[in-house]
This record gives sequence, C-alpha cells and structure tokens, in this order.
Amino acid sequence: MIRPRRLRKNEAIRSMVSETQLSVNDFILPLFIEEGEGIKKEIPSMPGINRFSLDQLDAELKEIVDLGIPSLMLFGIPKNKDAEGSHSWQDNGIVQQSIRYIKENYPSLYLIADVCFCEYTDHGHCGVLVNDQVDNDLTLTNLEKQSVSLAKAGADMLAPSGMMDGMVGAMRDALDLDGHSDMPIMSYAVKYASAYYGPFRDAADSAPTFGDRHAYQMDPANRKEALKEADLDVDEGADILMVKPALSYLDILRDLRERYTLPLAAYNVSGEYAMLKAAAAKGWIDGEKLMIEKLICMKRAGADLILTYHAKEAAEILQGKI
Ligand code: PBG
Ligand code: ZN
Repeated sequence: MIRPRRLRKNEAIRSMVSETQLSVNDFILPLFIEEGEGIKKEIPSMPGINRFSLDQLDAELKEIVDLGIPSLMLFGIPKNKDAEGSHSWQDNGIVQQSIRYIKENYPSLYLIADVCFCEYTDHGHCGVLVNDQVDNDLTLTNLEKQSVSLAKAGADMLAPSGMMDGMVGAMRDALDLDGHSDMPIMSYAVKYASAYYGPFRDAADSAPTFGDRHAYQMDPANRKEALKEADLDVDEGADILMVKPALSYLDILRDLRERYTLPLAAYNVSGEYAMLKAAAAKGWIDGEKLMIEKLICMKRAGADLILTYHAKEAAEILQGKI
C-alpha cells in the first residue's frame, strides 16, 4: 500500500518535505501615520495596530527593524481634506515627511507608499468627483502628481490602490519623465469591492461619505475579469501585481500565479485581521496558530509577498520569541 502518512511521522520529516516556507522577508507591514503631534491611538477593531504621529513612531520603527521586517506600506492621514485630496501631492505632505524621516533614521527599511486619494478627499472617494462619480482621467492627472511627489520624497516603491483604468501606465510615464525610471510599481491590480475593508476605513479615516466603491473596485463574483485587470497592468508596466483581499480570493491569486512570472503580493486586509483577533479574544480559535496557517496558505496559493498587520507577531513566532 502507498502510505502518505510515512512522511508525516514526526516533525523532522514533516519539515523536510514541507512545500512552503514562511519568511519574515516576505512581509510588508502597513503603517498609518497621522498628521499632528503626540498621537498613538489604537484602532478599536484592529487590536495591536495604532495610528501614530511622526513624533511617536520611533519605538515602533525600532521594533520593526529589530524583528527583521524589511518593508512598510505607508498610509497617511492629513489634518485637512479637500475635494481633490491635494494634500497627497504636497512636498510637506504627511507621507512625504514620513518617508524623509524614516529614510534618514531607519535607512534599512524599504518604503512602499500607497498611492490613492480616499484618505485625503473630504468625500472619501478614491479620486476626483464629477456628478458624484469618480472621474477616471481627472484622477489620473492627480495620481501623476502624487507619484512624482512621493518619488521625490524618496519612496522605494509606489503602490496605486484606486483601481482607476490606466493608472499604472499614467504613473509610469509621469515617473519616467521626471527622472524616476527606476521606481518600481506594485499595482493593486485585482482589488475587489469588499466588506473586509471596514476596519481599515476607520483606521485611515477613508470611508466614503456617500455611496460605495463598486463603480471602480471589482465585483467579488468575477474571476475572468481579474485576468483582464492584471493583463492591463502588466502591459502598462507593473513590476508586482497584488490581489486584495487575500483569504477569500486565493483562487484569483492562483490564477495569476499560473499566468505570470511577475512577483505577486497578497493583501491580508483589515477585516481578515479583525475577524481573527475577535475570535481569538473570545477563545474560539487559537489566534497564533491560525495566523501562521493563513499566512502559509497565502504563500501556497502563489503569493511571494504578503501585506499583513500580523507582520510583527508572525516575525516573533518565526524568530522563536513566542
Ligand atoms: C484605499 C485602500 C483601502 C485599503 C488599502 N488601500 C480601502 C478601500 O479601498 O476602501 C484596504 C486595506 C485593508 O482593509 O486593510 N484605496
Ligand atoms: Zn482609495
């Protein structure tokens, strides 16, 4: 009889035949930075995750470096919002300031800037409104300004998350023209209109004040359309493709894995984090075990990189500290 159990007998053989390894090198930790001073506010639906002002960030950054987490995804929360989100392309914008500060004091950290407007607009949509709809091409013009500004501030990589048509191509052209042809773009290529983003919108103060994002983010029912979105971003010059959310969309990640040689990223989003934390707090699941399991499943499905709010805890476990 062929007995697959022979290779499951003990931990030694199990780890020898393990097909997937989780590494801290794969983690990107999202970080929320709020304009102002003296701010360290825990996000109620995301235990362990805070909004920081820049002056309160040192302890967190030291910990991140000590844990060996290589990279951050930066989200900014400005004091003042307007209809276009113009704070997002100011030289002294909150993310621009943060990039300069972190690069100067923690040069080993690889800084990825989220490129979108929903944290910066007074209506909370991801672009410029015309008749209460996000106007694609007006938004592209602003995305170009934001991208160049973030590149000038010293970002290592840009990650457009607004699901505008042509966003990668527009950014690529603007960056190249301004002398940033080395700047990589990680596109939120396949981003679904998901209720899993709820806690993030509290964290980043970016909920739309009316309507929803279904006119730009994708319908969770669609799979072929994911390939179309990803094909377009590859044609436009994306360097890395992201699928978001992660867990309910691992089939999409696998589809992309089979189709492209580009590195793929999975965004383990706020709602996925919140659900795990809530169930663990109730003692209904083992939070640490489930966290490692779900992160491994993302890699098994095809992710090379994982954006996750669990990065610090997972790094501790991988280092044997827990
Ligand atoms: C904004 C943005 C969102 C997330 C990342 N960038 C929210 C949204 O589209 O409403 C979600 C991240 C998360 O839920 O962790 N464009
Ligand atoms: Zn947005």
